[in-house]
Parts: sequence; C-alpha cells; structure tokens
Amino acid sequence: MMKSPNNFKGYYYSLFMISLMLCLGARSQLTTDFYSQTCPSLLSTVRKQVQSAIKTEMRMAASLLRLHFHDCFVNGCDASVLLDGDNSTEKFALANVNSARGFEVIDAIKSAVESSCSGVVSCADILAIAARDSVVLSGGPTWRVLLGRRDGLVSNGTLANAALPSPFEALDAIIQKFVDVGLNITDVVSLSGGHTIGLAKCATFDNRLFNFSGTGAPDSTMEANMLADLQSFCPVNGDSNRFTTLDRNSTDLFDNHYFKNLLNGKGLLGSDQILYSSDLAVSTTKSLVESYSSNSKLFFNDFVNSMIKMGNISPLTGTNGEIRKNCRAVNS
Ligand code: HEM
Ligand SMILES: *[C@@H]1O[C@H](CO)[C@@H](O)[C@H](O)[C@H]1NC(C)=O
Ligand SMILES: *[C@@H]1O[C@H](CO)[C@@H](O)[C@H](O)[C@H]1NC(C)=O
Ligand SMILES: *[C@@H]1O[C@H](CO)[C@@H](O)[C@H](O)[C@H]1NC(C)=O
Ligand SMILES: *[C@@H]1O[C@H](CO)[C@@H](O)[C@H](O)[C@H]1NC(C)=O
Ligand SMILES: *[C@@H]1O[C@H](CO)[C@@H](O)[C@H](O)[C@H]1NC(C)=O
Repeated sequence: MMKSPNNFKGYYYSLFMISLMLCLGARSQLTTDFYSQTCPSLLSTVRKQVQSAIKTEMRMAASLLRLHFHDCFVNGCDASVLLDGDNSTEKFALANVNSARGFEVIDAIKSAVESSCSGVVSCADILAIAARDSVVLSGGPTWRVLLGRRDGLVSNGTLANAALPSPFEALDAIIQKFVDVGLNITDVVSLSGGHTIGLAKCATFDNRLFNFSGTGAPDSTMEANMLADLQSFCPVNGDSNRFTTLDRNSTDLFDNHYFKNLLNGKGLLGSDQILYSSDLAVSTTKSLVESYSSNSKLFFNDFVNSMIKMGNISPLTGTNGEIRKNCRAVNS
C-alpha cells in the first residue's frame, strides 16, 4: 500500500510524538494523582499533621524542608535519611548528626497515614509532601507534589558525606554537588532560599567570626553589626551548639528576605554569602541573588520549579524498593 507524502508526514509526526512521550515518561514516572484511588485522604492527613507539629514548634517547618533535601541528595528521594542503624547510616553523616531533625514528626505522619491507608504510601512521598506543606504553612508558594516514589533499602553515611554540601565549601564545589544530582546554578540559588526559615548553630558559621581561613581576621563580607552580634553570641570556646536564625529579618516567614540579606552582607553561613560576594558569583549566582531579592514572585516561581526537580532525583518506582511500614526500618 502506497502512502501519500502527507500520510508520511503524519506517520513521522506520530512516531515523533510517541518517542517524545516515552522520553518524558522515562524522565519522570511520578504523578500528582498517584494515590488518588489508594489513599484519597493522604494530602489532608499530612497537612493536618504538619500543621499540628508547626503549632507546637514553628521551626519544624524548616526542619522538615531540610529533611527532604537531605533525602534527595543521597541515593535519590528514597527516604534513606530516615533509616535508623549504626554509625554508618546517613543520620550519622557530618551534615546530619546532631543536626537533622523532625524524625518524630515523620513517624507521626506515617502512623496517621497508615491508619487510613495501610501499606500503600511511601515514606519518601511523605517527606516530599511534608516539605511542600512546610513551605506553604510558612507563607511560601504552593505546588502539586509529584508522587509515586518508593522507599530505599539502604542508608549510606559515606555517600551522604560526599553528596551533601557543607557550609565551609567554596562555590564551585557546591555547584558541582548540585550538578552531580542533575541540578543547575538556578537550582543552587533558588533552593538556597530555603534558608529563609530555620536555624543554624554556631559551629556552622563561627569560622567566619574571628580568624577566617587563617587570615587572622573575620570574614570581610559579613556586615559589621551582625558580625559584632554573632561574635558575642558565639564566643571562642563558647557553646558551639547555640542556635541563631538563618534569616535574621523574618525567621518564620518564607519570603525573599534571605536574598535581601545577602545584598547587605547579612548571610549567616559562608555558603550563603558566597552566592553574592565571592569572585565566582559574578559569573554564576550573583545576578540571580539580585533578581530574587527584588522580585519575590520570581523567587517563588523558581523555587517551586527547583523543588519539583529536586523531588525527581532518582526516585525508586515500579517494583524497586518497597513501601516501608515503619519509616525508620526496612521491612523484614
Ligand atoms: C547550598 C548548599 C547548602 C548548605 C551548605 C546548607 C547548609 C546548612 C547548614 C549548615 C544548616 C544549619 C544546620 C545546623 O546548624 O544544625 C542548614 C539549615 C537549613 N537548611 Fe541548608 N544548606 C544548603 C542548602 C539547602 C537547601 C537546598 C535547602 C532546602 C531547599 C536547605 C534548607 C535548610 C533549612 C530549612 C535549614 C534550617 C533547618 C532547621 O532549622 O532545622 N538548605 N543548612
Ligand atoms: C562507628 O562505630 C565503629 C564500631 O563501634 C567504630 O569503630 C567507628 O570508629 C565508628 N565510626 C565513627 C565515624 O564514629
Ligand atoms: C556507600 O557508598 C560508598 C561511596 O559511594 C561506597 O563505596 C560504599 O560501598 C557504599 N556502602 C554500602 C554499604 O553500600
Ligand atoms: C536550570 O534548569 C532549568 C530547567 O530545569 C532552566 O529553566 C534554567 O534556565 C537552568 N538554569 C541554568 C543557569 O542553566
Ligand atoms: C589564624 O589561624 C591561622 C591558621 O590556622 C593561625 O596560624 C593564626 O595564628 C591564627 N591567627 C590568630 C590571630 O589567631
Ligand atoms: C525586615 O525588613 C523590613 C524591610 O525590609 C523592615 O521593615 C523590618 O523592620 C525588618 N525586620 C526585622 C526583624 O529586622
């Protein structure tokens, strides 16, 4: 049977569309309605639990957002950060030990979810929804969370030490860690805006206060009044576990003040301020910091896109992994 040139066009068009769909499907197998049949109450259950946790302690919003980030950067978003175990697990990695928190809240959400839909919702998805809800309940933007992740079987602290960025790192190293998980410079800047809420302890920034990088002087990019405050809050040989706010202007509010702070030398962590003040920032992150500082709509929009991208890092789907019964342990 002979086809007319027009039919050929249609044939190749269909082939193209089918390949495109397969390609997009392979990139993201997650969907927003994954549990619409198996657990229709999921979103409202998680929202209620996050709301109640935040009512008890506002900081919990920040802690839950950070947990999802620390989950996704290590072995993908597979709830590996939640697994208990010996000191080889992610919980004992440098960035998490004595720092990552919110595990009891995740347990409470999981048990509320289990009581209405037993054995169907992954801990990895609960982390993703709880992170979104935490942003929304802090006054930030909302988005539809992609779902269908399954839970991993291993937690690897060595991997976490290699993958999670440190506040003492240079900008090129931090960018590289984002690139390693498929994120880019826009994601580095927008997601760093997560530091618009929450706290950090002296140990994570006191290297900037007295003898920065062996210079014998404080970090010259820190604003003078803030420096003086922090020097007395975190004295040499003081309690390095004392906490202060990442965004001194509005710690409980998810807004773009984090970026305004950077323009004024008021970033708390070294890894915050270098997004604006380092030499490399000029050709990479600085102009985005400026844009976000003056345009909170742009920040919210980019933050949402980056959260969705981060939530898509190597999810386990299909028959990979499992649906954990208890977020702290693999099923026996
Ligand atoms: C760019 C690289 C990043 C570095 C070096 C970094 C580092 C840190 C450090 C050192 C702390 C304080 C931890 C403590 O003192 O216990 C912190 C807190 C926090 N981080 Fe990041 N972070 C980064 C990116 C992110 C991202 C991508 C997010 C989420 C989108 C995020 C969300 C948070 C939140 C919300 C807190 C406060 C947690 C709480 O109060 O419990 N961070 N981060
Ligand atoms: C982990 O535990 C083992 C056995 O108790 C110990 O030898 C090792 O030093 C610990 N590692 C760290 C990083 O604490
Ligand atoms: C953890 O990750 C490291 C670094 O990729 C790897 O060498 C090691 O074999 C892993 N350990 C386990 C128990 O999978
Ligand atoms: C980062 O990726 C997003 C798409 O995911 C794209 O819109 C953005 O322009 C990229 N940014 C850079 C600096 O390449
Ligand atoms: C600052 O640190 C460097 C390197 O650690 C050290 O050699 C120097 O003595 C310190 N300076 C002061 C003033 O403490
Ligand atoms: C936060 O910034 C706004 C204006 O940018 C200012 O009016 C307000 O006083 C600041 N709040 C704090 C607690 O610094």
